[in-house]
Amino acid sequence: MSKRESRNLLMGLDVGTSKVVCVIGEVMPGGQIEVVGLGQQPSRGLKRGVVINIDATVQSIRRAVEEAEMMANARVQSAYVGLSGAHIKSHNSVGVVPVSSREVSHRDVEKVIEAGRAIAIPADQKVIHVLPQEFVVDNQEGILKPEGMFGVRLEAKVHIVTGSMSAAQNLQKCVESCGIHVDKLCLQHIASSSAVLLPDEKDLGICMVDIGGGTSDIAVFKGGSVRHTAVLPIAGEQVTNDISVAFRTPTQAAEEIKIKYGCALPQLITEDEEIQVPSVGEGPPRRLSRLTLSEVIRPRYEELFRFVRKELHRADWYDAIAGGVVLTGAASMMPGVPELAEEVFELPTRLGPPHEVTGVRDVARSPAYATAVGLLIYARSQNNVRMPVNENRTAAFWMDRVSTWFKGNF
Ligand SMILES: Nc1ncnc2c1ncn2[C@@H]1O[C@H](COP(=O)(O)OP(=O)(O)OP(=O)(O)O)[C@@H](O)[C@H]1O
Ligand SMILES: [Mg+2]
Repeated sequence: MSKRESRNLLMGLDVGTSKVVCVIGEVMPGGQIEVVGLGQQPSRGLKRGVVINIDATVQSIRRAVEEAEMMANARVQSAYVGLSGAHIKSHNSVGVVPVSSREVSHRDVEKVIEAGRAIAIPADQKVIHVLPQEFVVDNQEGILKPEGMFGVRLEAKVHIVTGSMSAAQNLQKCVESCGIHVDKLCLQHIASSSAVLLPDEKDLGICMVDIGGGTSDIAVFKGGSVRHTAVLPIAGEQVTNDISVAFRTPTQAAEEIKIKYGCALPQLITEDEEIQVPSVGEGPPRRLSRLTLSEVIRPRYEELFRFVRKELHRADWYDAIAGGVVLTGAASMMPGVPELAEEVFELPTRLGPPHEVTGVRDVARSPAYATAVGLLIYARSQNNVRMPVNENRTAAFWMDRVSTWFKGNF
C-alpha cells in the first residue's frame, strides 16, 4: 500500500450564518490531526444558524468542499457537520441500571447512557447528543470511566441536547445534496469547545462563548464534562446592523468598517482617527470619528455579555466557573472584546484560538475556525477515521473540478 493510500482523513463542515468552512484533517500515526485542506465560502442561506434557503446553502457547501478537497488532493465521502440555532434545547438527566455481572462492562455503560436518554421531548425535536457527565457506582460519585469497577448499581448523569427535527433534516439534506454523507450532526458549541478549551479549564469550571454571525453559543464545563449549553440570538450581525443604522450606511460598508476600525472599548482608542463612511443612496461619503464607531459597537457586545451572565445565573453555573470565560468565533476577534467581557463577567477572560491541530496556519490560529477544527477533534474521538476514495486523480478529474469551480464562481 502506498503512503498516500494509507491516509486517514476526516472532514468537518461548519455551516455557519456568515461563512461555510470545510476542513479536511489527516490523523497522523500518533493521533495528532494535521489540517491538509481548507475551503471557505460566504454563507448566504442561513439565518441565526438555521438553513432558510436550501439552494444557496448547497452552493456554499459545494464550493467550500471542492476547495478543501483540491487543497488536500483527496476526496472525502462523509463529514461531521455542526448544528446550532435557537431551536437547540438542553437538559440534564439521570439513568440507572443494575450492573449485569458484579463488574461494570462496556455494555452496562451503554445501557445506562441509553436509560438517561429516556426523557419526554416534543414530537418535533430530535436528540442530537447524550453526553455522559459522570457515573455513580453504588454510592461512589464522580467516576468518569466506570468500566471494570465492582458494584451492583450503575447511575449515569447525562447532558441531553435536542434540536428541531426539520432544522436538522434541512441541514442534512443540503450536505447530502453535495454528495457528502453526514456521519453525525454535532452541536457547534460542543465542537468549538473541544478545539479551544484546555483539559484543566474543563476540570476547574469554564464557560465558552462562541460569538458568530447569527448566534452566540454557550457551553459550560466542570469536572471534565459539559454541564450546560445554550444559544443566544445576539452576535456579530447585530453589531454590523447597529453600525449601518447609526451611520446610515449600507450593510456591506458597515461590515467593512467594523472589521477594519471596530473596537469594543472606547477607552482603548488612544488616537482618534476620522473614518470615511459611504452614505446610503447617492449621498456623498461622510467623515466620522473612530471613537463614535466604538461607542456604537460597545452597547451590543455589552448586552450580549450581560445576557450570557444572566443565563449563567439562571442555570446556576455562574459560581462554578472558577476558570472564567473563553471567547471564540470570528466576532470575538474585535479589539477590546475580551477586556469588555472581563468587565461584565467579573471573571478572567481569554480569547480561544483552536489548539491541538497543525497544518494550514490560519486554521490553527484563528478563533473563526474553532467549530470546524473542533468537528475534526470530535470526529477523531468517535474513532471514525475515513479513508479517502479515488486518491490518484487523473488530470481529467482536476480539469473537471477546476471548470466546475470556475462555472460556479463566475
Ligand atoms: N476581525 C473581526 N473583528 C470583529 N468581528 C469580526 C471579525 N471578523 C469577522 N467578524 C464578525 O464575525 C461574525 C462571523 O463570525 P463567525 O464566522 O464565527 O460566524 P458563523 O460561524 O458563520 O456564524 P454562526 O456561528 O452564528 O452560525 C460576523 O458578524 C463578522 O462581522
Ligand atoms: Mg459559528
